[in-house]
Amino acid sequence: MRILVLGSGAREHAIVVALLAENAGHELIAAPGNAGITAEARTGGSVETVALDASNGKLVAQYAADNRIQLVVVGPEAPLVAGVADALRAKRIPVFGPGRAAAALEGSKAFAKRIMDGAKVPTGRARRGTTIAEVEAALDALGSPHVVKADGLAAGKGVLVTEDRAAAVAHAEHYLQQGEVLVEEFLEGQEVSLFFLADGHDVVPLSPAQDYKRAGDGDTGPNTGGMGAYSPLPWLNDRWGSEAAFVDEVLDTVALPTVRALEAEGAPFIGLLYCGLMLTEHGIRVIEFNARFGDPETQAVLPRLESSLSELLLAAATGRLGRMPYPRFSPEVAVVVVLASEGYPEAPVTGRAITGVDAASEVPGVTVLHAATALGADGALVATGGRALDVVGRAADFHAARAAAYEAMSRIHLDGSHYRSDIAERVDR
Ligand code: AMP
Ligand code: GLY
Repeated sequence: MRILVLGSGAREHAIVVALLAENAGHELIAAPGNAGITAEARTGGSVETVALDASNGKLVAQYAADNRIQLVVVGPEAPLVAGVADALRAKRIPVFGPGRAAAALEGSKAFAKRIMDGAKVPTGRARRGTTIAEVEAALDALGSPHVVKADGLAAGKGVLVTEDRAAAVAHAEHYLQQGEVLVEEFLEGQEVSLFFLADGHDVVPLSPAQDYKRAGDGDTGPNTGGMGAYSPLPWLNDRWGSEAAFVDEVLDTVALPTVRALEAEGAPFIGLLYCGLMLTEHGIRVIEFNARFGDPETQAVLPRLESSLSELLLAAATGRLGRMPYPRFSPEVAVVVVLASEGYPEAPVTGRAITGVDAASEVPGVTVLHAATALGADGALVATGGRALDVVGRAADFHAARAAAYEAMSRIHLDGSHYRSDIAERVDR
């Protein structure tokens, strides 16, 4: 199949690797891609990268039509919220990714709350605020710790969880300049990311993963886009009896009612429904929805997928998921550790050389995925963003997968960089 993958991160690199692993001779084009995706051209199919503005629907649709693209897979949220999937569907090009209206599930937290309330999807109590007075009343009504969220996309910076009321008010004041804010009940428990493929009507689940959002070991430091992940979650077996029982409950109470509610609104959700869940003592609660594959969770989930990714994505894009068997996953585990540039997340230093990637890739069971890289003028690899690389370790158990990932990480050098050393250290609770 000729497949266009939009995006430039480790998530898109993982999608490219999974498609090549099918050994189906796919012709892949990544726009804009990264240095790691370009280097995959040697394996299992063809890969090229093109410089294309992935958020320009008109350009992407024209490119796809001109290049006989059979499926477009949209990685990041920005093109979805910009309506790139709508532009492709208008030209009858199959696309895995929701249109602008359904992508509002991620693009507007107030919209997501309205859909959840209408569909009786379990989530934290929340109040909307458009003025500081409304926000202060909501903070007092919902109590501490305070959770304040910007309504729109804020590159992972829109959410503040704090016991400091003045900080909550200041955060709200900042984001009120851009739109409304949401004050939410604080939810306590374990977080789980669970992805569903959706075709507008039916959904099928992938395998759950855990994300590490804070910059530092022991969940300290600022929130980030995600510093690591693992899949599956062995502790779910104790808490829910089995992974399947947990997945079925989320499908019945969260994913399917949400997709059906959007269908009824005339905004069919076709693509990946990312359910960010908190497992509280009162049961499962939705913390957030995203309208795309999670990063870095995807890098832990896709290496375990045994079914054909291209068949699943095409079935979702063409309304045929109801006839697909559930995807199969390997019992092998995957651990992802993210290497971040100095200063990430506040002010990442970019342009520095990265060395040791080839030596890292030689560690058995390890794949190095590029998150923000380019080749410099002299052919050397340089970091171009905050999250530079991911190291993925795969093995029969977590001890071995972690050991492989951290051995590989120790072989990579990027001046001033940092990574968490506790990814998947505790997987039993
Ligand atoms: P979000 O961008 O909505 O995923 O929020 C970022 C992070 O803030 C989440 O992954 C949680 O760790 C935390 N968070 C968000 N909402 C809540 C909540 N209602 N209660 C507790 N923590 C939350
Ligand atoms: N890892 C969190 C996200 O993709 O939004």
